[in-house]
Amino acid sequence: MAQSFDVVVIGGGPGGYVAAIRAAQLGLKAACIDDWKTTDGKPALGGTCTNIGCIPSKALLQSSENFEQAGHGFAEHGVRVKGLELDLAQMQKRKDGVVKASNDGIAYLFRKNKVAFFHGRGSLVKAGAEGCEVSVGEETLAAKNVIVATGSTPRALPGAAFDEKLILSNDGALAMPEVPKRLGVIGAGVIGLEMGSVWRRLGSEVTILEALPVFLGVADEQIAKEAWKVFSKQGLKIELGVKITGVKAGKDVVVEYADAQGKPRSATFDKLVVSIGRVPYTDGLNAAGVGLKLDERGFIAVDEHCRTNLAGVWAIGDVVRGPMLAHKAEEEGAAVAERIVGRKAHVDFNTVPWVIYTAPEIAWVGKTEQQLKAESVDYRAGTFPFAANARARALGDTSGLVKFLADAKTDAILGVHILGPFAGELIAEAVVAMEFRGASEDIGMICHAHPSLSEAMKDAALAVDKRAINI
Ligand code: FAD
Ligand code: NAI
Repeated sequence: MAQSFDVVVIGGGPGGYVAAIRAAQLGLKAACIDDWKTTDGKPALGGTCTNIGCIPSKALLQSSENFEQAGHGFAEHGVRVKGLELDLAQMQKRKDGVVKASNDGIAYLFRKNKVAFFHGRGSLVKAGAEGCEVSVGEETLAAKNVIVATGSTPRALPGAAFDEKLILSNDGALAMPEVPKRLGVIGAGVIGLEMGSVWRRLGSEVTILEALPVFLGVADEQIAKEAWKVFSKQGLKIELGVKITGVKAGKDVVVEYADAQGKPRSATFDKLVVSIGRVPYTDGLNAAGVGLKLDERGFIAVDEHCRTNLAGVWAIGDVVRGPMLAHKAEEEGAAVAERIVGRKAHVDFNTVPWVIYTAPEIAWVGKTEQQLKAESVDYRAGTFPFAANARARALGDTSGLVKFLADAKTDAILGVHILGPFAGELIAEAVVAMEFRGASEDIGMICHAHPSLSEAMKDAALAVDKRAINI
């Protein structure tokens, strides 16, 4: 006899676990199925984000930054470090501990909220207006609603499958037991920059090969240009406009490519990270069997409310359209739970912040200046450099700037872009302001603590009206 639930969530990543918890909070009988397991076969809730994504990458970014600061940054502060040594095994152990604490935290939240957890692969047995059924191992779960949150996997280069020894996805890139002397990275996107930064700080010569002729085209052009200068100075070698023609893995990895001028080149690396985007993951879900519609790129097709073509079946997170970000998945998860109980909920992609955890960090929300130009929007821009911010000087971290873009007539904030220390924290103020339909003048008129990095937000907002005080 099938166990019955109001909601069964397939996938226990940030989308799925948040959906299950919110559903339970709203009084629904909720279950979550997740198949992630540790090397010894134990469940490890949290999906890509917790196990081989957001959390371990940020742990290594912090540890490697500490190493870099101890080696190169502290001396300026009058702190001399002698006999500096890298203990990579301890760094990896700490990272694993951070991941485990997050896995355990989600399991605790499931118990606290009475979410039933099933470890294994969930497969749709039937779906539609008469109710849904999902199998997991020997069990069958009956549910009025199913939320599919099965996430994504890394895209491989044709002819260069991941072996996680020489050709690494994010999984292998986070678990290297030794620092490679020469590290190649294909793709100068978010993972390429974050992973490239980690291993460069730990001693690798890092070369990033990027197909597009522009650097970080998703970010505001001015910010991307500044970031390029900073990363090049740090020693990240980034080649743009390349076309990879072959990858040969033997003792080491040889990458053949045409450079921006079309000249054939080759580069030899000890390890190669391939970070050229991610693809939606629906293996084993039996989507075709129950008639669940996928789009031409393999994403589960959903409307703006995350409804699929099948009654009672919803889909959220990386497996559907939109930015592949943990917080976007979380917002969709909570919103679907609300909709199931008949409440209104909305996720505005325009106010989903982006953060790239390099040093300095890059963060933004809303439109870039090039987007506003392309859309012929009449806007005003205000910028403020961290070099003119007292807290940034005290920190010794003055690279970068804050940039506000506001509507020329109404002054409504259209986009905020930051390159600088703690940009990922500072951006929250801009997100709040945009959600409340704030104007740049609103931020300019709010009292910000002194000395604080957030004063750069205030000054950049004031600069929109050419009245920044500190520059
Ligand atoms: P996932 O996290 O992929 O979770 C899906 C889960 O479902 C997995 O546990 C999977 O095993 C399970 N599953 C799949 N199919 C089935 C099935 N049939 N039955 C049972 N279980 C199944 N985003 C950020 O916002 N900030 C960051 O700093 C950040 N850093 C990242 C760093 C890296 C290296 C990577 C790779 C990604 C990063 N991301 C980051 C992106 C983020 O990880 C994803 O956007 C997020 O994990 C998507 O959440 P999700 O719940 O949709 O899917
Ligand atoms: P990405 O989309 O950020 O970057 C991929 C890069 O590879 C692009 O610049 C693209 O032009 C390039 N590329 C594609 N094909 C190529 C080829 N054949 N040769 C050379 N270059 C090629 O994807 P990435 O870095 O793999 O990350 C996947 C996603 O994971 C991100 O888009 C983001 O959504 C998420 N993520 C988020 C993080 C964060 O929020 N801090 C951190 C890491 C990942």
